[in-house]
Amino acid sequence: MTAKIISGTEIRKTILAEIKADVEKMKIKHGKVPGLATILVGKDPGSVSYVTLKVKTALSVGFHEIQDDQPEDIREADLLALIDKYNNDPDIHGILVQLPLPKHIDEKKVINAINPDKDVDAFHPANVGSLMICCDEARFLPCTPAGIQEMIVRSGTPTCGAEVVVVGRSNIVGKPIAMMMAQKSVCANATVTIVHTKTKDLAAHCKHADILIVAAGVPGLVKPEWIKPGATVIDVGVNRVGMNETTGKAILKGDVDFDAAKEIAGKITPVPGGVGPMTIAMLMKNTLRAAQYALG
Ligand code: GUN
Repeated sequence: MTAKIISGTEIRKTILAEIKADVEKMKIKHGKVPGLATILVGKDPGSVSYVTLKVKTALSVGFHEIQDDQPEDIREADLLALIDKYNNDPDIHGILVQLPLPKHIDEKKVINAINPDKDVDAFHPANVGSLMICCDEARFLPCTPAGIQEMIVRSGTPTCGAEVVVVGRSNIVGKPIAMMMAQKSVCANATVTIVHTKTKDLAAHCKHADILIVAAGVPGLVKPEWIKPGATVIDVGVNRVGMNETTGKAILKGDVDFDAAKEIAGKITPVPGGVGPMTIAMLMKNTLRAAQYALG
């Protein structure tokens, strides 16, 4: 059996077309479009390529976009002042500070400085709190988990009563997606287990999963024999494992041994072209929502 491939690239196209149509409506109704400020500190190649793609996508759906590149040695106080400027700019509805930040800057302070109503990453404690209380009422869902949930739902994978195993417990992916899948909601209602580096028998837990979500950052961690036949496998890993000499582009590998896993799984996401494109689409969705709230 070969698994059905859940293409993030295809689902993203549909979502971006929906957003673009809503932006057109907003322009007619309010004479305004959603505004996104993207702040990049330094020149980390991974961050530069993520931010470039975010900016390009924002422009493609008709947003007002400000790409604000800052030097690696920016003072923390100056970065906080910059955030405050965008907090008070009525044309900016979403603020994104690309992480990680240089070591001399306190990431927590920076996240806490963003107005929760403009926190389109949903990293601010106020937005993390709303997610814990009820996802259906949260203004913003964190982008990668929201993208994962969208892929599960749009691929027709049943979630009610399903065994979901999440490999990884990060604040950005593991913890929020576990919480979202366990919620009392039509897109969730699953039984969720979180496993991590200190879990005694990772393989045994993974084998129980009807939906296996892997966000460990370890290339090829999940072996085909860890997968329950017919399971839906969502691979969040984007590991740079080398460089293509001809194209000069990074060679990306997921956390799942894709070629072998697709012979066992029922549905599976590829790397690249899986969860990655969804994250940026959900960032656009959050920015649109922020503007809709602000404009009434
Ligand atoms: N760095 C890696 N992923 C993300 C993300 O989703 N948002 C931000 N702000 N930084 C990141």
